[in-house]
Amino acid sequence: SSPRRTTDHSGTRSSACPAPALFTWEFASDPYPAYAWLREHAPVHRTALPSGVEAWLVTRYADARQALADQRLSKNPVHHSESAHGKGKIGIPGERSANLMTHLLNIDPPDHTRLRRLVSKAFTPRRVAEFAPRVQELTDRLIDGFVEKGEADLIHEFAFPLPIYAICEMLGVPREDQDDFRDWAGMMIRHGGGPRGGVARAVKRMRTYLAELIHRKRESLGEEGADDLISGLIRASDHGEHLTENEVAAMAFILLFAGFETTVNLIGNGTLALLRHPEQRARLQHALAEGDTGLLATGVEELLRYDGPVELATWRFATQDLSIGGVRIAEGDPVLVVLAAADRDPARFPDPDTLDLARRDNQHLGYGHGIHYCLGAPLARLEGQTALATLLRRLPDLRPAVAPEELRWRGGLIMRGLRTLPVEFTPGD
Ligand code: HEM
Repeated sequence: SSPRRTTDHSGTRSSACPAPALFTWEFASDPYPAYAWLREHAPVHRTALPSGVEAWLVTRYADARQALADQRLSKNPVHHSESAHGKGKIGIPGERSANLMTHLLNIDPPDHTRLRRLVSKAFTPRRVAEFAPRVQELTDRLIDGFVEKGEADLIHEFAFPLPIYAICEMLGVPREDQDDFRDWAGMMIRHGGGPRGGVARAVKRMRTYLAELIHRKRESLGEEGADDLISGLIRASDHGEHLTENEVAAMAFILLFAGFETTVNLIGNGTLALLRHPEQRARLQHALAEGDTGLLATGVEELLRYDGPVELATWRFATQDLSIGGVRIAEGDPVLVVLAAADRDPARFPDPDTLDLARRDNQHLGYGHGIHYCLGAPLARLEGQTALATLLRRLPDLRPAVAPEELRWRGGLIMRGLRTLPVEFTPGD
């Protein structure tokens, strides 16, 4: 790469033209040109976020990967220089009062190591693999709901309910309560970037419900030998240590929260990318018809790289003065690693703006990197692969029902996803 030129206080090279506008509606519909500019001219860039908080954006792959693994960057918001002023603009709205703060994405070692080890004992790749037939059933049931209409909104009728029902079933939320979860999750996603009141209420209801459910499961543990995830979390022990009831609640909550909107967006963004690349989609349909699932596996990874659900990794805070890519970051400064920009870095991926479902050497950062690497990646892969393969098989002539410019993106800070995805297809059964 070119030698570093002098940088002003924002990390922007002084000889460069002005930075593009970030976080506008146009940016939300296609942030990639702005990210290309940042990677090139201001790879570590200080900016004001829509909330007013100032943060550093890291956009090059090499810097991003290093920052994600840098233990001097803490996940705990107490290290934010502004946290002492009680601005409270960082984190999941409502979670402070709801006492769900002690979850994996907000803590550092050694607490993180202990909690992650315990949850990993319950949330194993094997448990996820055993769950595959249920995910297929859920997927088919949702498609049954609209297949005869010849049209659907794939976000509301498919991508949104699938992960919420899937994680509810894994956690052991009884069937009759799952629609409540669907409603609370709906509140959280709808108001994600808007008024915090609705989200806080939904979080509070979910927390009360989870506390009762965990209590009931603890009481009946042993009797039914339940093998759901909440019972697994209660039972999990490491050197004689168990999770407290509050830790189990925080863990169940973060599994829901981290595993829900992400998967909605994997299915939504992934389907849209396939619809916009007919030759790639035809290749995948052909492979699936031949019983070859190899392209599905590499394809879902490529969809994560190309237009992944997590645009920016969750917050990190410098616990000391440090430098990233030659730019000085002060203790207490927030750092946001822009996964969507890193995953289009031409220094790491040849033809980064091309969707290539067969792409090799695809070490994208869509699931993060380092000790906070996505714990739910096996479940996300299972859901993403099942959802996309089943859609293409059952609705072979699926096509968008609106022009590309009519699509609306949510425009939240961390996540990247569509509000709706209207589609048409020949009605089937
Ligand atoms: C962490 C992405 C689905 C649970 C993460 C991180 C990313 C990510 C980028 C790291 C964030 C950071 O370092 O700041 C995704 C994507 C998904 C997905 C793209 C879907 C396609 C899921 C699912 C679950 C889940 C289905 C669980 C049911 C978690 C948890 C963490 C995490 C618990 C925190 C791990 C830790 O801090 O040790 N995910 N995720 N994720 N994810 Fe996922």
